[in-house]
Amino acid sequence: RGSETENSGSLGEVREASLFTFWSSPTSAQATIDLVPPLVAEGKNVLLLVHNLPENLNIIYWYKGITTTDDYEIARYLLSTNESVEGLAHSRRETIFRNGSLLIENVKQNDTGVYTLQSLDSRGNKKDTSVQLYVHQPVSQPSIRVTNDTVKEKDSVVFTCVSGDSEISIQWIFNNQNLKLTDRMMLSENNSRLSIDPVEGEDAGEYQCEVSNLVSSKKSSSISLIVNSE
Ligand SMILES: *[C@@H]1O[C@H](CO)[C@@H](O)[C@H](O)[C@H]1NC(C)=O
Ligand SMILES: *[C@@H]1O[C@H](CO)[C@@H](O)[C@H](O)[C@H]1NC(C)=O
Repeated sequence: RGSETENSGSLGEVREASLFTFWSSPTSAQATIDLVPPLVAEGKNVLLLVHNLPENLNIIYWYKGITTTDDYEIARYLLSTNESVEGLAHSRRETIFRNGSLLIENVKQNDTGVYTLQSLDSRGNKKDTSVQLYVHQPVSQPSIRVTNDTVKEKDSVVFTCVSGDSEISIQWIFNNQNLKLTDRMMLSENNSRLSIDPVEGEDAGEYQCEVSNLVSSKKSSSISLIVNSE
């Protein structure tokens, strides 16, 4: 692997760099890019929404990364002919619109990174604006365990919510409602353990845990707690 060389000096790069100088007129406003939605989970779509594009544009380009050479071009839009053209970095999931916005469908983990918009106006002025996209993993389904699912009043039980994910929050669900904690219940610091001591008849029912991160949430299967009277 160590002997591989990068062939980065493509013809396109040379051509583009020699035709235009990289200055931008100080009077015109800078384009801005918003991610819609701001947080995107793997498998979903995201729109890189462009505001404030400069006037009198000829071509709008989108690049993966900050290097604006052919190798990294996702697509360009030719405004004079209303035509979009795919670039070498196009993955068949991107659509460029006349207003400059770029739609990425079914995002993958490796779509994470910087995206650069370049506008070229009729006088040859180029302007670059970049945005960082981060693709979040949805949470996996948690599982639930209990020390004993058939107990007597005054016994104690401990439910545990098991998740392989990090940066999550955990909620407990009792009979399909958010669990209302009583003074006989205690949660561990990260909510992954629910202790009930002593158990009473009213605690009998279905328990589930729900794990959430910034972009998704999933519920465990349910455990039915049976409480026999003494
Ligand atoms: C640009 O066009 C796309 C697709 O039609 C649309 O979703 C988006 O809202 C437009 N952006 C602006 C800033 O108008
Ligand atoms: C569960 O609790 C019941 C009632 O206290 C007890 O009889 C039983 O042995 C316990 N089962 C286990 C596996 O600890």
